[in-house]
Amino acid sequence: MRRFSILSYGFSALLFAALPVLAADQDVIDYREAVMKIFNEQTGALGQIASGVVPDDNLVTHMQVLAMTAQTALKAFEPKVPGGEAKPGIWSNWADFSKRMTEFAQQSAAGAKIAKEQGKDAALEQLVNIADDCKDCHDTYRQEKK
Ligand code: HEC
Repeated sequence: MRRFSILSYGFSALLFAALPVLAADQDVIDYREAVMKIFNEQTGALGQIASGVVPDDNLVTHMQVLAMTAQTALKAFEPKVPGGEAKPGIWSNWADFSKRMTEFAQQSAAGAKIAKEQGKDAALEQLVNIADDCKDCHDTYRQEKK
């Protein structure tokens, strides 16, 4: 009996040691998914502006939020935590993944600048290039869960 309780104590101590690690991993996944959700909301808003139904007063701001968030995205993937919809190739092909994310951030920054200096039509053209970057990366590095 005594031996059992020592064993189970040892086991629960182990569990307690492991739990914060698991919770931290989930936070890492939640964080990078939150960054992606911001992309989705911003491109969604820009698509609504493109449709002409929504006034374009906030065009520059949405482009800027997208560009600023794009700068945060690579950092969000730096911790090597597989899970969510992320494919493990992200970390085994880190040079390629980070190149794509950096190019995406540059395209988004260019989009914000174009929106400010050239207006709606030019900005929406650039949005097409940005959306291509989303899709190309997802095709390679995202395993979409149905
Ligand atoms: C360089 C790669 C890359 C680029 C660029 C990229 N994504 Fe992602 N995206 C990912 C990966 C990887 C995941 C899976 C993350 C996870 O679940 O841990 C993801 C997940 C998502 C998700 C799901 C988030 C969730 O709730 O689970 C959405 C939505 C999304 N991306 C939208 C976008 C949009 C919109 C863009 C472009 C404006 C974009 N992404 C650009 C790699 C990328």
